[in-house]
Amino acid sequence: MRKGIILSGGLGTRLYPCTKVTSKQLLPVYDKPLVYYPLSTLMMAGIRDILIITSPADRAPFENLIGDGSQWGLNISYETQLQPRGIAECFRIAEKWIGKDDVTLILGDNIFYGNELINRFNAANWNNVGCTLFAYHVADPERFGVIELDHNDEPLRILEKPKIAPSNYAVTGLYFYNNKVVEYAWRINPSARGELEITDINNLYMQDHDCKIEYLNRGIAWIDTGTFESLSEASVFVGSVQRRTGMMIACPEEIAYKNAWITEHEIRRAAEKYSKSDYGKYLGQILDRKSTRLNSSHVSESRMPSSA
Ligand code: G1P
Repeated sequence: MRKGIILSGGLGTRLYPCTKVTSKQLLPVYDKPLVYYPLSTLMMAGIRDILIITSPADRAPFENLIGDGSQWGLNISYETQLQPRGIAECFRIAEKWIGKDDVTLILGDNIFYGNELINRFNAANWNNVGCTLFAYHVADPERFGVIELDHNDEPLRILEKPKIAPSNYAVTGLYFYNNKVVEYAWRINPSARGELEITDINNLYMQDHDCKIEYLNRGIAWIDTGTFESLSEASVFVGSVQRRTGMMIACPEEIAYKNAWITEHEIRRAAEKYSKSDYGKYLGQILDRKSTRLNSSHVSESRMPSSA
C-alpha cells in the first residue's frame, strides 16, 4: 500500500508578519487554503491514508480545518515537527505510521496543475524503482534542488540550492518512495545549514541506481509558493484558470466524488455547509455536471478533468 505525507512544518519566517500567528499552508491561494492543493495532488494519485506534519502551534488549526478526512473519504492523521530540522526528518517522525508501506511525500507549499499529472502519477506507481522524482524546467534553478546531467543527459546527482546551477531542471516537492526511505532518513546527517536534506536521501537512491526522474512538461504548471511573489502568482493563476473554465482547481470534495470515495449525499451536505461562499455554490454544481456523473472505484484519466 502507498501512503502520503504532507509536510507543513517550518515557521514560515520568509513570509513574516503574515505567518506569525498562522501557518503558511493555511493562507489563502485565491479561494481556498494553500494546503488544499497538495492534499488534492495526493488524492489525484489515489492516496487515501495521509499524515499531515505541522509545527506544534499549527496542529490545532489544521485539525480544525481538515479533521480526520472522512468528509473526503480519507484517513488523515497528524504529527508534529518540534523544530524545523529539515524535510527528511519527516520520515523519522512518521516511521511508526509508515510501517511497512511505501510513501509519497508532498511539500505543503507545492502546487501542481495539469491534465497529464494523472498519467505521471500512474507511471510513478508502476516505475519499478525505489524512488521517482519529478523535475521541472525553471528559470531560477538556484532556488531549488537541481539535477546535474551527464553528456548523455542522464542524471548524475542533485545539488541543493547551488550557487551555479548545472542545469535548469529543479526537483519539485513531490517524491514517490519505497519503504527504504525510512532507513535512508536515519542514515543521513544534517547539512551545513543544520537540516536533514531531502536531496541527500534522493542522492542515496541515485547512487544505488534506484531512482527514476519524470520530467514534467510545459502542459503542467508547478508553483513553489515559498515567497510572496510566488504566492500571489499562484492566486492569480488559480483565479484566472477557474474563471475561464468554470472548474475549480484543488476541490477535495470533487476529487473524492470522482474517485467514488464519497457519495452525492456528502457533496450535498458540504454544499449546504458552505452555501454562502462561491466554494459552496460550486459544490452544488458538481452533481449537475454530466462529466462527473461517472462512477468507478479507481482513479483514471478519463474521470479526472484537469480542473481537479
Ligand atoms: C525544498 C527542497 C528542494 C526542492 C524544493 C521544491 O526546498 O530542499 O530540493 O527543490 O523544496 O519546492 P525549500 O523550498 O524547502 O527551500
